[in-house]
Amino acid sequence: MKKIVLLLVMLVAIPNIAQEHEWFYATMSLEDAKALEKDVPGEIDIIQTRLNEAAVFMNTTAAHKLHDRILVHGPGYVFKANEAEAIKALQPNNVVRNRQALTITEDAMVAQVLPLIDTQRIADHIVELENYGTRYHNRASATQAAVDLKTKWEAIAAQYNRDDVSVRLFEHDNTDMPSVILTIEGAKIPDEFVIVGGHLDSTSSQGNNDAPGADDDASGIATITEAARALFESGFVPKRTIEIMAYAAEEVGLVGSAEIANEYANANVDVVAVGQFDMTNFNGSANDVYFITDFTNSTLNSYFMELLDHYNGSGAHEITYSTSLCNYGCSDHASWNAEGYRASFPFEASFGQHNNNIHTRNDTFSVSGTATHATKFAKLCAEFLIEVAKSTEVLGVAESSGAIFASMNGNTFVYNVTTASLTFETIQIYDALGKKVLEFPMTDRKGTFKVNTLASGLYIAKFTAGNGTSIAKKVLKK
Ligand code: BES
Ligand code: ZN
Repeated sequence: MKKIVLLLVMLVAIPNIAQEHEWFYATMSLEDAKALEKDVPGEIDIIQTRLNEAAVFMNTTAAHKLHDRILVHGPGYVFKANEAEAIKALQPNNVVRNRQALTITEDAMVAQVLPLIDTQRIADHIVELENYGTRYHNRASATQAAVDLKTKWEAIAAQYNRDDVSVRLFEHDNTDMPSVILTIEGAKIPDEFVIVGGHLDSTSSQGNNDAPGADDDASGIATITEAARALFESGFVPKRTIEIMAYAAEEVGLVGSAEIANEYANANVDVVAVGQFDMTNFNGSANDVYFITDFTNSTLNSYFMELLDHYNGSGAHEITYSTSLCNYGCSDHASWNAEGYRASFPFEASFGQHNNNIHTRNDTFSVSGTATHATKFAKLCAEFLIEVAKSTEVLGVAESSGAIFASMNGNTFVYNVTTASLTFETIQIYDALGKKVLEFPMTDRKGTFKVNTLASGLYIAKFTAGNGTSIAKKVLKK
């Protein structure tokens, strides 16, 4: 009886912050749980097991012991807010919430966006995040990094005049650090979501005051930021809603993403697919991208590979890939997966050949020196967002306002195609009712022609490339 009262008092006294919990619930591999039970009996209680996973009630002594066992990995457990959550996490996740078909149809838009991905911007952003010194979730600088990222994302959206973009902080129950979420509202199907994310927090086993977290995971944040920026620069207008997420407190057990995924699940948000970008800038293996096949959705993993086959088989944007395993829910994709959402995790190397400076004070940008590896992930990220969200269309072809300049200056139509990836051969002008009114051959990337036969009004200029792909652009004759 005394024991129970003591336990109750302890539970009530537990502060609301994940890392400060003396005793807390978690899941981990059964092998680790059993080893801890043997090494530190009394510090861990295995509540339930299923296959090779265990739900446990453990304290920080057991957590430290676990950390010593797993050298390269982080804590090695997934924090759970209560016993019910821990037990639920063991259950097989047969209910996939969304089975929408995943297709590849947006060649013209992808061709426009890939050349816009800028390696230097990714490098600069990684260094900018590294310079916080630490982004450990309970440090003031971690919250500052989140507030500053919100400002940065807002500035990028404003730079490209996007009034369909908003950025918010997502406040959490189990950490003081907020997550950051950028939303591009879908122009046609706003209730269907496509999400990419990475974690903004960092950690270091040498003391969390010096935790630069350049690869883990400033690289992922820089990668998804540059993919979004390139989409804005191209003028891409998505049919579905896109969200870009920078999660808080991943390193202490997926705390931020678990709360977000849980809220989305409770609200029945229709998420078509989720991509996780955690560690993208260390080139440690023979191939470029390794898809983690556990705690992810196999249909979505295959789709990601089809994207690479389709867009990155050879040439300037070539990206090679293979598969690997994490062996447990090692990043935020696992939070979405646990709620029945389709998630994938394209990773920088084969597991074990990844950057072994992570979780130390040496996880700095200087280890890689350039952002060429992360650039490949930014391209994949952009392809994924474009193809799952789909672009809005005019006359049945992708609408654009970025890489093609076109305008009517009095009776003269002026055009300038700045994308290097497509060679356009004809320009057709359609009126607002969809009737073709003029057609010209295109011999150069830039030029002019006369439109004096046209009355004032809105027209659509359709640029068609030699390979048959077209891009449309609205033009106003005054
Ligand atoms: N980026 C790592 C995950 C990772 C590390 C994947 C090495 C593949 C190879 C992530 O930030 C992390 O440290 N995750 C924790 C687990 C999480 C539940 C706290 C880990 O791997 O122990
Ligand atoms: Zn980590």
